[in-house]
Amino acid sequence: MASLKDIRSTFLDFFERDGHQKIHSAPLVPQNDPTLLFVNAGMVPFKDYFTGAAKPPAPRATSSQKCVRAGGKHNDLDNVGYTARHLTFFEMLGNFSFGDYFKEHAIERAWELVTKDFGLDPKRLLVTVYIDDDEAAAIWKKVTGFSDDKVIRIAGSDNFWAMGDNGPCGPCTEIFWDYGDHVPGGPPGSPDEDGDRFVEIWNNVFMQFEKENDEIVRNLPKPSVDTGMGLERIASVLQGKNSVFDTDLFQTLIHASAEATATDPNGEMAASHRVIADHLRSSSFLIADGVTPSNEGRGYVLRRIMRRAMRHAHLLGASDPLMHRLVPTLVSEMGEAYPELKRAQAFVEDTLKQEEIRFRTTLSKGMSLFEDAAKDMKPGDMLDGQTAFTLYDTYGFPLDLTQDEARRRGFSVNVDGFQDAMAQQRARSREHWKGSGQQANAGEWLSIRDRLGPTVFTGYDAVDGSGEVLAIMKDGQAADAANAGDIVEVLFDSTPFYAESGGQAGDHGTLEWPGGAAEVIDVKKQAGDLHVLSAEITSGTLTMGARVAQLVDAEKRRTTRANHSAAHLVHQALKNVLGPHVAQKGQLVDAERMRFDFSHNAPVTEDELARIEAEVNAVIRQNIPAETKLMAPQAAIEAGAVALFGEKYGDEVRVLTLGKSLTDDKAYSVELCGGTHVARTGDIALFKIVSETGIAAGIRRVEALTGEAARLYLEGQAGIARKLAQGFKVQPADVPARVDALSTNVRSLEKQVADLKKQLALGGGSGGNAAPEEINGVKLIARVLDGVDGKGLRGVAEDFRVQIGSGIIVLNGVTDGKVANTVVVTSDLVGKFDARELAKTAVLAMGGQGAGGKPDFAQGGAPDGSKAEAGLQAIRDALKA
Ligand code: ALA
Repeated sequence: MASLKDIRSTFLDFFERDGHQKIHSAPLVPQNDPTLLFVNAGMVPFKDYFTGAAKPPAPRATSSQKCVRAGGKHNDLDNVGYTARHLTFFEMLGNFSFGDYFKEHAIERAWELVTKDFGLDPKRLLVTVYIDDDEAAAIWKKVTGFSDDKVIRIAGSDNFWAMGDNGPCGPCTEIFWDYGDHVPGGPPGSPDEDGDRFVEIWNNVFMQFEKENDEIVRNLPKPSVDTGMGLERIASVLQGKNSVFDTDLFQTLIHASAEATATDPNGEMAASHRVIADHLRSSSFLIADGVTPSNEGRGYVLRRIMRRAMRHAHLLGASDPLMHRLVPTLVSEMGEAYPELKRAQAFVEDTLKQEEIRFRTTLSKGMSLFEDAAKDMKPGDMLDGQTAFTLYDTYGFPLDLTQDEARRRGFSVNVDGFQDAMAQQRARSREHWKGSGQQANAGEWLSIRDRLGPTVFTGYDAVDGSGEVLAIMKDGQAADAANAGDIVEVLFDSTPFYAESGGQAGDHGTLEWPGGAAEVIDVKKQAGDLHVLSAEITSGTLTMGARVAQLVDAEKRRTTRANHSAAHLVHQALKNVLGPHVAQKGQLVDAERMRFDFSHNAPVTEDELARIEAEVNAVIRQNIPAETKLMAPQAAIEAGAVALFGEKYGDEVRVLTLGKSLTDDKAYSVELCGGTHVARTGDIALFKIVSETGIAAGIRRVEALTGEAARLYLEGQAGIARKLAQGFKVQPADVPARVDALSTNVRSLEKQVADLKKQLALGGGSGGNAAPEEINGVKLIARVLDGVDGKGLRGVAEDFRVQIGSGIIVLNGVTDGKVANTVVVTSDLVGKFDARELAKTAVLAMGGQGAGGKPDFAQGGAPDGSKAEAGLQAIRDALKA
């Protein structure tokens, strides 16, 4: 039986032999299309090759592309677990022609692979073509010998494939497998085509057009081919299974899930195991590609997938978080084909675990709310929208999770009601919302980029240069000129100004031209690779086509470089000290400081911080020249460079090497980076961490200074130490010992003061009688004690209890103008008198609220210390009565 791994390599090898370049799967986060949530087809990373916006590396390519279809145009989330072939994560095998071969070669090769290499019986195959694609129909008939009834013509979107509302598209031809008449379902185009008998195994798209806003707007420069074969589907055909979940990889995952929960993999909980197996794959691959669970965008789709799986783990009775325990099985199945998964394993496990721990705190409460609401519902009923919204808002149940639970019980959810409740809440929070300012005119820049190409960046080697003004944008509108006082965006053909990217801030500096000057206050990237300068014209007029001298603020650039290189060093030091799970989650470097965010689940200790600092400074002192190489991205990653998930890398990437390892011969830090860096590590001069904090679940942040800023910081710290030493009149090194001695001293003095107060009280303080009074035959000690608080009174009262033998003690301690009251009744009198009643009498007389305690000891308090004497009198009166 061919395993998934064998099928993947058979496909890729077949097309490699046919002159296709093998290309490793792109990350799931689209690199070239902000409109797309996730890569959802094999062609997505190649979109620009089809439209002609970029030059392909080869005229033919083949890949096995990771795809997620959960959210957006192609969304299969709701079906997973309940059908035989829907998955949120799958691998799409594809062969691509970028204007090279077209229909004939595509169809011939497809047929050869399917019937020869995969050995499928032609009698059980049939094909579809787009309704008017006579050419494809004729080729199929020639290649297969099929009659017309096995070359089915289909109108509409089923045989016209588009990437989304924007992007390349074209008619397609699909190959179907017939599982046989024991499975219900009809051929494509028939009324019962949705059954499981005829299953599409391969789609060949003849890319010819480009869409914008869902309208075909132009022909592609050259007719091309894009094909997609779901690996899991072809595996189920080749392995003789009706469902993708019965194929080898899924069975391994399902058994791992069953074993971890001690449940039957096939019983009535089979759907839960299927959901878990699928969602484990999508979650793990998304996390490995840098998506982390959050409440918006991609992060929220991930959270929905994770929580849906986690609820199924709960249904299976898993008492501990489950998902992370299944990751090792997934990695052993797929880590070889996708090394990025293996590299991120520790982080994936941790992220799954933390999310499951978090969700478990509200999951059972949410489920009981659901149970309550569902108690009187019957199959076919609808759960009200408000409950679904409360589950969402208060208990973290994404809507599809609630729908999934409802579906299990045969009812639906009032989605409109849910949306209404959500809209109402949004309206409430919008009142507090403040806009973030004017949006740049991104569309305008895209068309400029199309006309003029990218900006040439000369700033790796220089901090000044001259350039020609290609565009001026005033208030988001193209302008011919800008005058003194205007703040405009300016584009040059080439520039030494670095544009904010990769966490490095844009450069500052000045522009000069005959008769005018401007100050550059920021530089941003537009349309991917345009460096757009924001500048305030300080004198003269800047016109289109002018030649301008561009001067980067060299001092700021120098410190920015040091901070950026230090960020690379700290990245490596964090990995060395804390472990390989540390992954960069963000950074900000500018002329002042560096901030580095990374995945780690606990605060970094003082000791670890000290080791990180020591290591970075040791590499700085090596003073080895920094090395920058230009490489193809894949070669760089294979050579061990740390690639940032989700970063866009062009044809060539810059690989920066800094320092030598402190333990072996290897380089210390090797990273892909487009930023500007020091020439030698010694240029950083000094590195000092100034803070370490948590910024989100599982994400920490260090902030640090380099060079002169670090020196000034340390000087400031030393100044504080010097002042302390002067104040304490010791050497700076002796300050800690002095502080310890002083606090010991203070504690002992405090104790002495307390003892003295007590002695004073026992010996007869102000306002009380020296000896006990006697009222109606009961001995009474009643005193006001200045400066003794409630705690102090307790000790004094206990001493009096011993002294008096039999009687009542009433003490009012006055501190800060307030009065604390304590009453003790010796045990022989308990029954006759209740300390709580007496204390209450005193407290009420002093304007307080009441008192509490036990029959032989009670305390209370009152706000007005001047009534302390009156409180004692109230008790005397009570005893007399
Ligand atoms: N891009 C085509 C699909 O996803 C091959 O079906």
